[in-house]
Amino acid sequence: MGQTGGRRILVTGALGQIGMELLEALSARYGRDSIIATDIRETDKLENLGIKFHKLDVLDKVELENLIKDFEVNEVYHLAALLSASGEKNPELCWKINMDGLVNICELSREYKFRIFAPSSIAVFGSDVRGVASQNSPLNPATIYGITKVSGELLAEYYHATHDVDIRGLRYPGLISWKVMPGGGTTDYAVEIFHAAVSGEKYTCFVNEKTTLPMMYMDDAIRATIELMEAPSEKLTVRGGYNLDCLSFTAEELYSAIKQSIPTFECDFKPDHRQEYADSWPDSTDGTKAKIDWGYRIKYDLKSMCSVMIKSLRQDVQ
Ligand code: NAD
Ligand code: SER
Repeated sequence: MGQTGGRRILVTGALGQIGMELLEALSARYGRDSIIATDIRETDKLENLGIKFHKLDVLDKVELENLIKDFEVNEVYHLAALLSASGEKNPELCWKINMDGLVNICELSREYKFRIFAPSSIAVFGSDVRGVASQNSPLNPATIYGITKVSGELLAEYYHATHDVDIRGLRYPGLISWKVMPGGGTTDYAVEIFHAAVSGEKYTCFVNEKTTLPMMYMDDAIRATIELMEAPSEKLTVRGGYNLDCLSFTAEELYSAIKQSIPTFECDFKPDHRQEYADSWPDSTDGTKAKIDWGYRIKYDLKSMCSVMIKSLRQDVQ
């Protein structure tokens, strides 16, 4: 496999918040014919992108293997998962999808030797980590989602060390994007607030004003993903999940930043059950290791992220 050539890519959970943007980036870089997108949901949205789509439940290992064989896959971006808020509603299903799905991918990689991207999350940390989480901060999550992400990181390290599986992962911060709505996470407020602001609606934020979480604009996350997947294997000292440098702001600071561009925008704060998950996560993450190992640098700050979100959503509603 060259830097950009020779790739045969399968994406699971491709219709989600990250998947739809990753598909566009992968298609631009490697060509749409090198990609097969899959998800448990049906869609016709990919027809205009010219990307092949196959309905697939990642728990169906036989169908997964058939696709991997038929398409001669050499890279899998494994995005199918339940996120934090959806996971808390159904812990058993969260464990099943997040863990059994990952084991299926890792086991098939042992046989078919494809490279895997399996994302982790800031949800690996628990309330014993205050402020900035470093790469080696303790991992004592309070949510079932976080527990699956810590277990997923351990599985990745195990399959790499014991079975030579080339698996790579990032601890994504909360991702802020405008193309696809997020799918049941705690950081969703940081996306919903923009949609309300641009539509001229008042927003009721489900975490309190002082809530501070690690966040990132989607373009930085997609670039991190592709850079990590293209990095030489021998440079990587972490397989489960690299911390990334990120944005860190309170919900109130986000509101103020949006108000700079949309002065009439109103937001109030009524915390619900998701406050507890947010409170268990750190304010920020330190991405020094990702910088040293494969040179990752974040580009968007709060101001430029707000500016591109508002501009893009305004164009989108026209
Ligand atoms: P999402 O909820 O938007 O998308 C997940 C997709 O998986 C959905 O399209 C869903 O239909 C699909 N799916 C669910 N169960 C499936 C199954 N059994 N088989 C196949 N597909 C199934 O999630 P996302 O935000 O795109 O997240 C992708 C990955 O990134 C997840 O592992 C998530 O934990 C991780 N992550 C996301 C964020 C974020 O802020 N978006 C932050 C940290 C980590
Ligand atoms: N954005 C994700 C969530 O809130 C974090 O992994 O669940």
